[in-house]
Amino acid sequence: MRRLLRVLAREVAAVEPGEKIDPGLMYDVLRYLIEYPGRYHHPIENLALWRLVQRGRVARPLADQLDLEHRSMRHYGGQLLRLLEGARGDILVPSPWIAMAAHQYASAVRAHMAHEEQALLPLVEQQLTQGDWEEIARASMPAEDSRHSEDVDSQFRRLYASIAERANADA
Ligand SMILES: [Fe+2]
Repeated sequence: MRRLLRVLAREVAAVEPGEKIDPGLMYDVLRYLIEYPGRYHHPIENLALWRLVQRGRVARPLADQLDLEHRSMRHYGGQLLRLLEGARGDILVPSPWIAMAAHQYASAVRAHMAHEEQALLPLVEQQLTQGDWEEIARASMPAEDSRHSEDVDSQFRRLYASIAERANADA
C-alpha cells in the first residue's frame, strides 16, 4: 500500500500546473489501492474489529472512528477515481484538482493505516484465537467459486506487475 501511495505521490509531483496529466498509471494505482483492500482487507478487518467490540476488548468509539476512516478513504478514493476517469476520457480536468484529490486520498489512507497499526492490529494479534480466525476466514470467503477467485487474484497480480513495471520505467 505504501509503495503504491509513493507511486501516486510521484505522479502527482511530476505534474506542473496547467500541464495535461497522464492519468493511466495513476488510475491503475488507485484501482489497486481501492479494490484490493476492499476485497481482501476490509471484510476481514471489520469481522475482527466487531468481534473484539462484542468482547469488550475494543471500545465502541474506536471502532466507530475506524469505520469512519474506511468511509472517508472510500469517499476521497471515489472522488479521485472520477476525476481520473474524466481525464482519461475527453473531459478537461485541471491537474491541480487531481493533485489535491490525490493528496486528500493519500492522507486519509496513511492516517488510517497508522491508526489501525497502532490501535487495532496489536489487539487483534493478542486477542483472537485460531478458532476466531477460522470463523473469520469462513465468514469473509467470497460467495463465488474458488476458480473465479483465482482469476481475480491473478488479475490483481497482473495489475500490480504492470504498475511496478511502468513505475520503474518512469524512475
Ligand atoms: Fe483498515
